[in-house]
Amino acid sequence: MAANRRPIISGNWKMNLNHFEALKLVQELSYEVTRDDVDAVDISVHPPFTDLRTVQTTLDSDKIPFFLGAQHCHSEASGAFTGEVAPSMLAKLGVRFVIAGHSERREIFGESDELVNAKVRAILANDMTPILCVGETLEERQAGDAETKVEAQLKAGLARVKAEQVADMVIAYEPIWAIGTGQTASADDAQAMCAYVRSVVADKSGTDAADMVRVQYGGSVKPINAAELMSQPDIDGALVGGASLEAASFARIIQFRLHDL
Ligand code: 13P
Repeated sequence: MAANRRPIISGNWKMNLNHFEALKLVQELSYEVTRDDVDAVDISVHPPFTDLRTVQTTLDSDKIPFFLGAQHCHSEASGAFTGEVAPSMLAKLGVRFVIAGHSERREIFGESDELVNAKVRAILANDMTPILCVGETLEERQAGDAETKVEAQLKAGLARVKAEQVADMVIAYEPIWAIGTGQTASADDAQAMCAYVRSVVADKSGTDAADMVRVQYGGSVKPINAAELMSQPDIDGALVGGASLEAASFARIIQFRLHDL
């Protein structure tokens, strides 16, 4: 993690926890996380849509300094899109970070690079920050195509986004083979790909944007591997799935700087 970039640890709850359980988790997490943690690290939680209002009122009323996040949104402002949620609706709820292009959305729901790009631009247009996810499958890695895949996803995902907007974004490198498998990328492999992400951003948006953009690693991040991953120069944060569903484990990831390597 470079000294000039503020770390960001995000909890992607995926399709887990109803609004009662969400309330409990956020409150438990607020007891575990200290003032020093919040001074050192940005923390975002990304509950399912049905929990957002509950989590928002809890963060507000209890003055809990976590950022509210969403997992997904539509790219259009309104209209006949049954079941979808517009970016402005999220912004109105105080959502600050929205995940775009998670591999589960790409692989299970068929989201294309073009759609992901439209979402990134819609999120930015509503003054929220996209967390743009990229990452290769195991087959692509084994075939030596990981960088080609990530480069294509980044170039398409960042198309027509201004350099100063890219600078404020978060990009999450999540190798698909590491998600939910317990098989984390080695710190060296994760660092190499996060450095590559930064080089693609430099190519597309210039070195200032590349120096500022925050790059997260995601894929089986746990308390036991968070410190080593976060010690890498191009890894500025973590996008955490399973381990963010329990207050103690998510808090220990947030407290990565207190762990021995
Ligand atoms: P896991 O931490 O459960 O592997 O999930 C990673 C992820 O997909 C976060 O977006």
